[in-house]
Amino acid sequence: MKTITIAIDGPAGAGKSTIAKIVAQKLNIHYLDTGAMYRAVALKVLQQGLDPSDHEKVISILPSTHIGVTYQHRLQRVYLDGRDVTHLLRQPEVTKAASEVATIPEVRIKLVELQRNIARNYSVVVDGRDIGTFVFPNADRKFYLTATLEERARRRWLEMREKGYDQTLEDVKRELEARDKNDMNRAFAPLRKAEDAILIDTTGKTIEQVADEVCGYLREYLG
Ligand code: DC
Repeated sequence: MKTITIAIDGPAGAGKSTIAKIVAQKLNIHYLDTGAMYRAVALKVLQQGLDPSDHEKVISILPSTHIGVTYQHRLQRVYLDGRDVTHLLRQPEVTKAASEVATIPEVRIKLVELQRNIARNYSVVVDGRDIGTFVFPNADRKFYLTATLEERARRRWLEMREKGYDQTLEDVKRELEARDKNDMNRAFAPLRKAEDAILIDTTGKTIEQVADEVCGYLREYLG
C-alpha cells in the first residue's frame, strides 16, 4: 500500500501542530505528534523521580518504557506503559524535561523507530524537529514553519493561559529560548530546515492564512 508522509518541522510555537491537524483532516489521514512521544518519556522520568539531565539513568529505564499511540476519531492518544497519559503531557515541567531527554540519542533512536513503523502502515502528517532531515528524509512534502521568538512566546502564553497555567509572558519567552537552544544545538538530529523543505514564516499570519498556504502546496494530494 502506498502511504503519504507530510513532514512539518520548526521551533516550538511556530504553529506546527495546529496546521498539521488541519492538513491531516483535509487529507483524511492521521496526524502524528512526535513531540508527544518525547513528552511521554519525560513524564516517566519525572514520575520515577529521576533528573532528566542524568542521561545514564534516563537510558537505563528505556528498555522497560513502552510508548504507544492509538487514534480515536483520527486524534492521537499516547500511552505510557499501557496507561493513557495524553492529558498529562502539556504540563510545563514535562515540556522542559522533554527538551532535555530529546538530546539523548538512545531516546531518539527508540522513538524514531516507532514513528517510522507508524508511517509504514498509515498516511500521516507528522510534526516535530527532525522529521524532514532525519526521520523521513524521503517525505512526499516537507515544510518548515517559523515565527519570531516574540510571536511564538505570545501564542504559547495564550495557549497556556487557556489551559489554566499561570505563567508570565516573560517566563514563557525564557523557556522557549532555552528550548530552542537545546533543540537546535544538540549533536544528534538537531532542529534544522531540510534543504528541500518549504519555508513558511507564520509571523503576523492567521491560522487560516498559513493553512491555505500549506494546502496550496499540497493541492496535488488534496485532489
Ligand atoms: O513539539 P513539542 O513541543 O511537543 O516537543 C517537545 C520537545 O520534544 C521539544 O522541546 C523537542 C522535542 N522533540 C524533538 O526533539 N524531536 C521531535 N521530532 C519532536 C519533539
